Amino acid sequence: MELVFASSNEHKVNEIRAIAGSAINLKSLNDIACFDDIPETGSTFEENAGQKSRYIFERYHCDCFADDSGLEIDALNGEPGVYSARYSGSRDFEQNMQLVLDRLEGKNNRTARFRTVISLILNGKEYLFEGSIEGKITLQRSGSKGFGYDPIFQPDGYELSFAEMDPAEKNRISHRAIAVAKLINFLNQ
Ligand code: IMP
Repeated sequence: MELVFASSNEHKVNEIRAIAGSAINLKSLNDIACFDDIPETGSTFEENAGQKSRYIFERYHCDCFADDSGLEIDALNGEPGVYSARYSGSRDFEQNMQLVLDRLEGKNNRTARFRTVISLILNGKEYLFEGSIEGKITLQRSGSKGFGYDPIFQPDGYELSFAEMDPAEKNRISHRAIAVAKLINFLNQ
């Protein structure tokens, strides 16, 4: 089957291609020559993922899916959440991590989770898939792998931050991996 992933991030597209295998012909936005800046104005991951998948479905009338992810910190009432990419006002990972560490200073509760929501549109009907991984925000950065908030996120059951882990290990347990596995499982049924 052919499926469009509403993302121009070739790294993400290839990651999902590898998991999905040959049964799914996965196309990126570049593959369908869509270079639009797709609006993402929702206040939840579900809304944003749905906004992106519907944008593609309404214009290209194809089966497609979109994802939205971020970090939710309990002591900050779920922030940065949908604002994860630009929490400090900039896309700079260092500034965004620093703001999180500053806002958590003096707080004992450092529990957090990464969450991904995927919105799939298949034959015009929407299906949602979710993946999350629980953990805590460390007191300082450690590790240099990965991206985003990886240096300050330690998943439950591990002594390492996401940025200290082997990428293959992170990709096995991550919020995105869990959501993608649910999507693939659904498509294979
Ligand atoms: P996206 O929706 O997957 O593009 O993620 C939005 C933002 O959430 C990213 O820019 C990161 O700041 C953060 N984020 C999402 N997934 C991860 C992850 O696996 N590690 C670290 N940060 C992440």
